[in-house]
Amino acid sequence: MTETDTSTATTTDGEVTDVLVVGSGIAGCAAALSAAREGAEVLLLTKATKPDDASTDWAQGGISTTRGDPDSLKSDIIDASDGTADPDAVDTLVANADDAVEDVLVDTLEVAFDESEDGEFDYTREAAHSEYRILHVDAATGSHILRPFLNYVDAHEHIEVRQDTAALELITAEGRVHGVVSDEQSEGHPIYAGATVLATGGIGALYGRSTNPDGATGDGIAMAALAGAEVEDMEYVQFHPTAYAGDDPFLLSEALRGEGAVLRNGDGERFMEDYHPQGDLAPRDVVARAVETEREETGEVVLDVSPLEFEAEYPAIAEKCRDRGIEADEIPVAPCEHFLCGGIAVDDRGRTSLDRLYAAGECARTGVHGANRLASTSLLEGLVWGLRAGEDAVGFDPEPVEAPELRNRDPDLPDRFAAEKFTRLQQTMDEYLGLERDPEEIARAGSVLRRLKGEVDAYVRTRTTRSLYELRNASVVALLIARAASENTESIGCHYVVDAERPPRA
Ligand code: SIN
Repeated sequence: MTETDTSTATTTDGEVTDVLVVGSGIAGCAAALSAAREGAEVLLLTKATKPDDASTDWAQGGISTTRGDPDSLKSDIIDASDGTADPDAVDTLVANADDAVEDVLVDTLEVAFDESEDGEFDYTREAAHSEYRILHVDAATGSHILRPFLNYVDAHEHIEVRQDTAALELITAEGRVHGVVSDEQSEGHPIYAGATVLATGGIGALYGRSTNPDGATGDGIAMAALAGAEVEDMEYVQFHPTAYAGDDPFLLSEALRGEGAVLRNGDGERFMEDYHPQGDLAPRDVVARAVETEREETGEVVLDVSPLEFEAEYPAIAEKCRDRGIEADEIPVAPCEHFLCGGIAVDDRGRTSLDRLYAAGECARTGVHGANRLASTSLLEGLVWGLRAGEDAVGFDPEPVEAPELRNRDPDLPDRFAAEKFTRLQQTMDEYLGLERDPEEIARAGSVLRRLKGEVDAYVRTRTTRSLYELRNASVVALLIARAASENTESIGCHYVVDAERPPRA
């Protein structure tokens, strides 16, 4: 990424741009691209300093297409969501999926998706997909998409990519969003925009074990919620069933099971048929709970990859196994936080409830995932909604209004301050708002998190350090999850309530 560019103008009070995008994963890049294609000057702000600071770079399995059968993909998405996905949102996704993939990924970025010997795409399958319809580059698809995408937007004459820059607050006036205050100056730097697109990704850093990068602190969701935007479905935190069970977890893609790997318990037995008719390819929430139950009852669960050409076909995952000293075909696995199905409520163009504020990607709640997301739909949703939001965000004049005044007058906090509070937050989330939830424990989490947020707010009033704002954002999002979980007494999808009024599906 280049350090400077001229695509934004400077005013006495700050900068002005047509479209401001916050976040550099697939959704942010797609929004920037489509806004620039519409003739806008775009500033893409990212706190990332390298591609793997975005979850997109970590995505393994692939990106789903419809392969010419949108109805079949729609039906799998709705089934995986336990019947809770919004059918209109799913229609938007499936109607735009193949064109978006072909236009941006195949024609523009020329992503070299795996092909079979006859030169056709080698589509794979993952859990709860009834068809082979997922494009992939072995099982390291995200980085093969994101790296060329970042290079492309960075080289675009109408897009400035500014890295290592965090948005701290939204600038709002009378229900309209006018940009953000960034951390480029110690008391904040206003950036005004005709429209602002949040594409800040997920919330993995709120949990002790996650498949997300450390920077996934829910920044966009927190900023939007604090500005009064509607958020929805925050209780639906998805846990991936097969992350490496040891320290420093990493994802073992569902594509491995899609191609024949199987789960075995501590007695060496396969068990998924006892939990769901789709066995090892049951929806993710069902498999995650079954893995946890079998771990408790039999000591461990492993993913047996012996039916695959593991080293040859999945070199990136095989390398991670070797790095952890795993030589055998049986890899110990445990569920791990993976994806937030809820987020900032948006419509089919990524419009939030606040004027001129858009959201796309994991920070947005489009309705596509309902209570449980189908594999390999997150890159697709980020791409489709990013493109639609970027296109719609063009055409508004920036209106510099008074920006929130941030104060940075007290001494820096000790380095460990944010890290220690983060640990407390993660322990609370792991213990009370994980895979299984108990109403009393959810209430306890709410009290702990409210106290934590109160402490953090007191410091944020007089300091602008990025780590403090990340902690503030994480505590806001954690409270939103606790509140949504306490209000939903049904076990549904990823939200599993012990002794719930409505029993879970398996
Ligand atoms: C995986 O590769 O298992 C993850 C894919 C996804 O989360 O969509």
